[in-house]
Amino acid sequence: MTETLDIKITKTTHSRLQETDFNNLPFGKIFSDHMFVADYADGEWKNFQIVPYGDISLSPAISSLHYGQSFFEGIKAYKHDDGQVTVFRPEKNAARFNKSAERLCMPTLPEDIFLQSIAAVVDIDRDWVPAKANHALYIRPFMFATDPFLGVAPSGTYKFMVLLCPVGPYFSKTLRVKIETYYTRSAEGGMGFAKSSGNYGGSMLPAKKATEEGFDQLIWTDAKNHEYVEEMGAANVMFVLDGKLITPSTRDTILDGVTRDTVLTLAREWGMPVEERRVSVAEIIEGAKTGKLQDAFGAGTAATIAAVGSISHNGEEYFLADPKTREFSQKVLVELDNIKYGRVTDTHNWNYPVL
Ligand code: PLP
Ligand code: COI
Repeated sequence: MTETLDIKITKTTHSRLQETDFNNLPFGKIFSDHMFVADYADGEWKNFQIVPYGDISLSPAISSLHYGQSFFEGIKAYKHDDGQVTVFRPEKNAARFNKSAERLCMPTLPEDIFLQSIAAVVDIDRDWVPAKANHALYIRPFMFATDPFLGVAPSGTYKFMVLLCPVGPYFSKTLRVKIETYYTRSAEGGMGFAKSSGNYGGSMLPAKKATEEGFDQLIWTDAKNHEYVEEMGAANVMFVLDGKLITPSTRDTILDGVTRDTVLTLAREWGMPVEERRVSVAEIIEGAKTGKLQDAFGAGTAATIAAVGSISHNGEEYFLADPKTREFSQKVLVELDNIKYGRVTDTHNWNYPVL
C-alpha cells in the first residue's frame, strides 16, 4: 500500500448540478463538476490534482494524437437506497489498466493510486451519482502520451485522468446484431485484449456500415477465417445454448471483461454449466435455427446485460425468444442490480465503498 495520496483539490465555483436534468442523461455527454489529473515524468507519477471539469491545453504534436499511445477504462459507481456510494469491482479495472499500459509501452500506475484517485473524485462529486434504477455514475479513467515529438517512439511523459458522467442505459432496446464476416477488430498478436483507443477507432467504419444496413451492433469474429465469435461491439458476448452458458474464452483478441467475469461467477454459483471456449459461428446459427439458442446478450459496464433480439449472418436473420421470457439473463439482471445497489449482502466483496 502506498500512503494516502497527496491530492491538490481546486473546487469549482459554479456547480452545474442544479441545472443538470437527471431525467435525461444521454450516455457520455454530461460531465460532473470535477476531474482527476496526474502527470508522469522523470519516471514517476506526480501532481495529483482534482480540478473543475474543463478543457486542457496540450501541444498539437503530442504522440497520443499521432500514434495512438492512449487507452482507457470504464467503471460504474452506484448509489444505494441508504445513500451510500460504491464502485463496482475497480480492482479488476486497475489490473486491466496496467495490462493495457504494458501492451502500449506506457508506464503502469500502482493499483493503489488508481483506486484512491477514483475514490477521491467520486467522493467530491458524490451528488452526481444518480439515485435511480438502471442509472449510475460512469467513471472514465484514461492515460495518454504527452511528449511533443513526431518520431515513432514511446513517450517519456503521460497524463492520467478520470472523468465522471451520470448515465442511464447505454442501449434502450433489444439489439438486432450482425455477424461481421469481412472487417476485424483485432488479430492474434494485436491488442484486442487492451482497452486501447485505436481498437475503437478501427471499429467505427464497420459499425457505421452495419447501422446503415439497419443493425444495432456487430458480433466480431476471428481475423483468420471469420469462423469463431469473439465480442459484440464494446461488450463481451454470451449465449445460453441447450441449457449451458457459453462464451468465447479470453485470448489476445478479446477484452477480459469485468461484467463477463461477474456473470460467469454467478452462473457457476447457481450450478449452471459454463463453457469458456472457442465458440463457432456455425453452432450459434444452428442453435438459432433449431431453437436451442435460448439466450444471447452482450455483457459490459456501459452495456450492462444487453439482450440480442436477432442475429444475422450472410444475409439471413434469425430471431430469438422475447428477452422477458429468457430465464438466465433476467435472473442475472436482477441479481446484478441487487448487488450493485446494495440490496443483498455483497458476499464477493465486489462493491468498493467511497467513504
Ligand atoms: N469488450 C469490449 C471491446 C469493451 O469495450 C468492453 C467494455 O468495457 C467489454 C468487452 C466489456 O468489459 P467490462 O465488462 O469490463 O466493461
Ligand atoms: C465500457 O463499457 O466501459 C466501455 O468501454 C464501452 C464504451 C466504449 C462506451
